[in-house]
Amino acid sequence: MNKTKIAGIGHYLPEKVIRNKDLEKKMDTSDEWIRERTGIEERRFGRRFEENTTILGAKAAEKAIENAGIAKEEIDFIIFATLSPDYFFPGCGVLLQRELGITGTEIGALDVRNQCSGFIYGLSVADQFIKTGHYSKILLVGSEMHSMGLDFTTRGRDVSVIFGDGAGAVVLCAAEEGDSSEILNTQLHSDGTYAEELAFECPGAHGGVFSDEKDFGFSEDPWSPIFITDKMLKDGKTFPYMNGKLVFKTAVQKFPEVILKTLEKAGKSPEELKLLVPHQANLRISQFVQKRLRLRDDQVFSNIQKYGNTTAASVPIALSEACEQGRVERGDLVCLAAFGSGFTWGAALLQW
Ligand code: UT7
Repeated sequence: MNKTKIAGIGHYLPEKVIRNKDLEKKMDTSDEWIRERTGIEERRFGRRFEENTTILGAKAAEKAIENAGIAKEEIDFIIFATLSPDYFFPGCGVLLQRELGITGTEIGALDVRNQCSGFIYGLSVADQFIKTGHYSKILLVGSEMHSMGLDFTTRGRDVSVIFGDGAGAVVLCAAEEGDSSEILNTQLHSDGTYAEELAFECPGAHGGVFSDEKDFGFSEDPWSPIFITDKMLKDGKTFPYMNGKLVFKTAVQKFPEVILKTLEKAGKSPEELKLLVPHQANLRISQFVQKRLRLRDDQVFSNIQKYGNTTAASVPIALSEACEQGRVERGDLVCLAAFGSGFTWGAALLQW
């Protein structure tokens, strides 16, 4: 059985900076509210009509491929995690393959729809493929272009002030003899009980069956499409919904649980961690987790202040920045963890 290592990493953030003060002009919010509740000071927005989720992902992927020192043609599998795909279908995996110019090869592309924990899920899938020798060089990308679909009126303020655009990517391959880098273990969890508590339900094929609220403007006529209705658009149902308090409460419970589990599986303790790279959901959540695990400030990475919550992209962007800043070096014990919509959550323990 092979051991998997991250051979290359990179990230890309759009240039356009949106400060909290810019949002004040669009909705009833304030810089103080956003900073106090989330820690966010600014976020990035992609350039409309020039950038999208695939293009951001491709820019991060190119950096990761270069950092790995391989040719893009060596990639034999793509995994793409996002909640803001360019098309409903096909997924961004094949679009990325085309964008990178590696079509015509016999590679596969898989799309992961696990929102904030998408990167951790993707990492675990890649790890299994590399361990068994099924694939040898996997490109894993987390990318989001949230700004294309948020409600920037006061109605959507509890969600729209939080999210930002960006992408991160890694190249995974088998560790060589004597290599100190390796994925020690991954833990994946889910609980669908709260599926609608953090969700983007419309458009969709649900027909209202999971919802207490039946009036989505669906027609009784069996030949009339119900995927998207005028009423959904009018009522703002085509925007994400979040029960912030429940998500916060559950996140601060699940993050420490899953981090301790991944450490325990490897026979390690929190003190041994060089760096915890949590999904950048809310600075207060990360601070809570830090306190619960009794970690020092230098053991927890945060960049939500600059980029907001970039969901599937947040962990690889943070890990990539941590590497650039010299916060992790080869052989260091690093834990990645995420929690989000589904609910789904997970962690990965790495020897960087
Ligand atoms: O990555 C996915 C996972 N997501 C998360 O982990 C997010 C978890 N949840 C959170 O981070 C927090 O719940 C939020 C930051 C989203 C919200 O903070 P909160 O302390 O839970 O605030 P709240 O939703 O209870 O709202 C408090 C007040 C309300 O006003 P009233 O009813 O007290 O008058 C809201 O209407 O703040 C109001 N509010 C805002 N005010 C100014 C909500 N959003 C805003 C806003 N600006 N953007």
